Amino acid sequence: MKNIILTGVKPTGTPHLGNYFGAIKPAIDLMREPEAQCFYFIADYHALTTLQSAADMKKYFYEIACTWLAAGLDPEKAVFYRQSDIPEVFELTTILSNVTPKGLMNRAHAYKACVEKNEAAGLDRDADINMGLYNYPILMTADIVLFNTKYVPVGQDQKQHVEIARDIAQYFNKKYGKSLMVPCEKISEQVATLAGLDGRKMSKSYNNVIPLFCTEKQLHKCVMAIKTDCSAPNDPKDTNSILFTLYKLFATPEQTATYEQAFHDGILWSEAKKQLFDVMNAYLLPMREKYDYYMAHHDEVDDILAQGAVKARVIAKETIERVRKAIGSGR
Ligand code: TRP
Repeated sequence: MKNIILTGVKPTGTPHLGNYFGAIKPAIDLMREPEAQCFYFIADYHALTTLQSAADMKKYFYEIACTWLAAGLDPEKAVFYRQSDIPEVFELTTILSNVTPKGLMNRAHAYKACVEKNEAAGLDRDADINMGLYNYPILMTADIVLFNTKYVPVGQDQKQHVEIARDIAQYFNKKYGKSLMVPCEKISEQVATLAGLDGRKMSKSYNNVIPLFCTEKQLHKCVMAIKTDCSAPNDPKDTNSILFTLYKLFATPEQTATYEQAFHDGILWSEAKKQLFDVMNAYLLPMREKYDYYMAHHDEVDDILAQGAVKARVIAKETIERVRKAIGSGR
């Protein structure tokens, strides 16, 4: 049997290069490995903890779905679906919440961070915290174990959530016999390292991102805005620069070697930026065209996701049957 690899993406922001190289591209590469069966989904109900406007939900949902398709997700190879199309996820969440110690949820980073912020501000510790946030790790556990997932590729920030999923699966198995596959996280390192325009980690919250899909003109403007050091025009340039890091991601090894030599030879920052823009644009152009196509054809995206949900539910139903039997509610 193939290893099940599953990951979810929350539709809460416009995808940027950090998301692409940290999560999307590695997932697409995994999809092509013969021994892997990948499940990729859009975690729309996870987004509800913070995203409570229908217009925003629609906007980000399609941006994410179209991004993954444009980035090369092949719906024949990976099962690609919308979380809310799988009712079994929510049934399993209810069941699992009964084997989940409340204290485990109290210790979840995202919840704890909100509590600490409230306390620091002199507010009630649970001020403005909804139960969606509190139960978030249980819903995520259901997402994962429903599909007999072995590996969950995620960034460092999601490590604890997968550990919690592992704990909950084990609690369930201890009580009801070995009915659930116990998952393991697969941390991708790059997430933490891609720097944004100002040199800090590329993140929506720092307002320093380069969007994955924007017009050529906007991309050009972003590249020109990348911070560089103040070495003199003909001085050798430090390859420990965001420009060089980005260039390497988009270029071939040969191109990178030439670029590196140009840095040693004292290329002008403006010229280095121009060359970076050229490789980026060449790489992104075909993807951008696909993205624009899907953004103009939401009905096709809906069809792809609906077909994905049909495939996903075959497995989801098997697991739910097994779980119902285990707890004594099955026929
Ligand atoms: N919590 C993840 C995030 O914020 C998204 C997510 C939801 C997820 N369900 C998942 C990731 C299951 C991996 C597996 O990015």
